[in-house]
Amino acid sequence: MNLQVKIDRIKNNLDAQAYTVAAGEAVKIIEIAFRKLLVDGLALLSDKDRLKVMQAIIEIGKGEKGVESFGLGQMLAVLRKSKFNDAWEAATSSDLSAIKMINLDALNEIRIKLTHDAAEASKFEAEFLFHALEGVIQAFGIMSLEKQEPVANKVPTPAEIEQKKVLKEVKQADRVKNTYDVVDRKEKRRLAVQKNLTRPQDIKALQELVSNLDGKNILDIGCNNGDYIIDRLSAVGDIDAVANLIGVDIDDQIIREANEKHARENFSFIKLDSESNDFLDDLLDLMEDKNVEGFDLITVPMLLLHLKKPYKLLRVLRKVLNAGGSIFIRDMDDRLAMAHPDENNIVERMLEISSAVEFTGFRENGRQIYSLLKKSGFNDIKIHPESINTIGRSHDDREALFHINFDYVLGDLRLATEKYPDSAEWAGAYEWMLDAYEELEELFQRDDFFYQMGTIVYSAKK
Ligand SMILES: C[S@@+](CC[C@H](N)C(=O)[O-])C[C@H]1O[C@@H](n2cnc3c(N)ncnc32)[C@H](O)[C@@H]1O
Repeated sequence: MNLQVKIDRIKNNLDAQAYTVAAGEAVKIIEIAFRKLLVDGLALLSDKDRLKVMQAIIEIGKGEKGVESFGLGQMLAVLRKSKFNDAWEAATSSDLSAIKMINLDALNEIRIKLTHDAAEASKFEAEFLFHALEGVIQAFGIMSLEKQEPVANKVPTPAEIEQKKVLKEVKQADRVKNTYDVVDRKEKRRLAVQKNLTRPQDIKALQELVSNLDGKNILDIGCNNGDYIIDRLSAVGDIDAVANLIGVDIDDQIIREANEKHARENFSFIKLDSESNDFLDDLLDLMEDKNVEGFDLITVPMLLLHLKKPYKLLRVLRKVLNAGGSIFIRDMDDRLAMAHPDENNIVERMLEISSAVEFTGFRENGRQIYSLLKKSGFNDIKIHPESINTIGRSHDDREALFHINFDYVLGDLRLATEKYPDSAEWAGAYEWMLDAYEELEELFQRDDFFYQMGTIVYSAKK
């Protein structure tokens, strides 16, 4: 309980004429206040005065006891012996005249009477102790010394602690192998909307990296059904002028779809696992096949967060990039997400759960990419600043922004409940999420609600 709450409680007891209770509590808090002063307050004194106080503590405790086990009488003796008040005034430029007027011996006598003799406190004694307490707290600024104590409403409940523990157990403390379900129809729709919302920023960055597509060799990793890369390149230049566009994705079905949708002589969509040990050899074979010596541009949109070893992939990609060629990476970092107002902490909790669910990818990946690129030998590393947010968006765009940012959490959390059917925590989180999801959807339509997506774009050169 914090000090102010305890003081208020004494006031209530005085009002209720419960003088002995009020006096007893006041004595206890005066003891706590002096102990704090002699422990935390010591740091504020000059070296010389601090030493004096420590010597007094040793003498009064006979070298056997420390302040933690001193009673009020002993602490008062330390203060007196070390001339603590004068030291405090010198160190903090404060005026302790009010506290000097309090008869601390009388205070100690009442304490002995109450605690040792189990006597009743009079109204006068209780009020004297209360005012002495207020004087001590004010004079020494005990409230500010107290700030390290946890505030009552910040202390998590046992249930919250338990839930965090369980979520942590199954949390991907590190990265897990990708479990991304690419053919899920909801995910397909989400990706299509995401592709539209991230379009202006992507194009701006890509235009800085390549001025035209003539004769260029381009590689897209995690290409999905090919829509994304075809759309982006078409905005940058004449896509027919590309020498080769190669897209790779781990998923059979999605690669089939890409080849059906975008069949052209200079486009190839190939099934490859970019995390496999054979990836470089597979890629080199493919390049030999297509007569590609190296790539001018490699794009890695929304893939790294799903990989267990992104560094391994970046090293391979640097090997197949032409000197002067560029890599473009779009990824996620949920810590870049911002929401306001979020009175019920819905967004905060959703993001917390999202990062704990093992199917959502590594949600704080964005911040790692600079180091990964650097370690892999890339140069000219840049972040392309952007904010994809709700400001100035239409009703439909706000809805889209909501869906691309939160649909996957609900779906992935459902998967967690299926994988851990005995876990009350995942079930509880899912139940909470169902309600919160609707509430958040409405929040996204409020004019004064602001949301910024936690996404980030990097580029680098070889
Ligand atoms: C979030 S989607 C992004 C799709 C697309 N790049 C976009 O931005 O719209 C991730 C894609 O990476 C693919 N993928 C996941 N792990 C992969 C791996 N190890 N190798 C290649 N592709 C992978 C998935 O199948 C999926 O199509």
